[in-house]
Amino acid sequence: MQKAVEYIARSAGKLMLEAQKDGTNVHKKEGVGNYVTDCDRATQAFLQKELANVLPQAVFVGEEEGGDVYRPDGYCWIVDPIDGTANFIRSMGYSAVSIGLVRDGKPELGVVHNPFSGEMYSAMRGEGATLNGYPIRVSDRRLKEAIVTFGATSYRKDVTDRMFRTLRSLFDNCEDLRQLGAASLDICRVAAGKLDAFLELRLSPWDYAAGMCVLLEAGGRITTAEGESVRFDTETSVLAANAACYEEALAVCLGER
Ligand code: 2AM
Ligand code: CA
Repeated sequence: MQKAVEYIARSAGKLMLEAQKDGTNVHKKEGVGNYVTDCDRATQAFLQKELANVLPQAVFVGEEEGGDVYRPDGYCWIVDPIDGTANFIRSMGYSAVSIGLVRDGKPELGVVHNPFSGEMYSAMRGEGATLNGYPIRVSDRRLKEAIVTFGATSYRKDVTDRMFRTLRSLFDNCEDLRQLGAASLDICRVAAGKLDAFLELRLSPWDYAAGMCVLLEAGGRITTAEGESVRFDTETSVLAANAACYEEALAVCLGER
């Protein structure tokens, strides 16, 4: 099944590459910095059809219209056809198709593919995580040496003050910060030990479901910014980190450092 999903992700990636080359219509959604393109919609429709062939009994939750409602029992695909749409519109080369599979509320499989870089992150519960077929592990850097990536959550101004307070404190306690613009890829880069922690104060399940499986299989930790279990039925904050700096990063998020 994992190989079939990787194949589907690669095909979806080709749709993104073609749309980038030929152009695609951009539509504004509600809020700041929130866009959808024709390519997001077409890619989701493609994924919904293809993934139904892989696992007919699974429900399909996607960011764009046309999917099902999340179900806590049984199998559930949780999919973002394009994570990092603002990057995609600007040809930044840092966007991904993100395909998560959750079983009875637990991450079962994750595939995150950036067609612009060729990165294919993939994991299945209990079987480890890979990048382009090679096993990956989180880094062992403590917070002092960590590069922490984040999403500033421009579309939710109610968390702006908290975010920048937390970032100031993270900045004082880590090596450096990065903002890259695609949560799924950020989490996978923590899984691969390229980055050491990731924080965003409002994400939707399709932004992290796949990356979460990859990170856990690579030895990382992921919770809300309050240290609680991440759920798939609601928006949530997400703190993802290597095991060595997770507690320190959580202490910063809780205002304890
Ligand atoms: P998206 O590109 O699929 O919208 C950027 O900080 C990260 O936040 C991206 O992964 C982006 O995913 C995600 N995000 C989640 N909800 C969003 C929203 N309402 N508007 C814009 N980005 C959002
Ligand atoms: Ca998206």
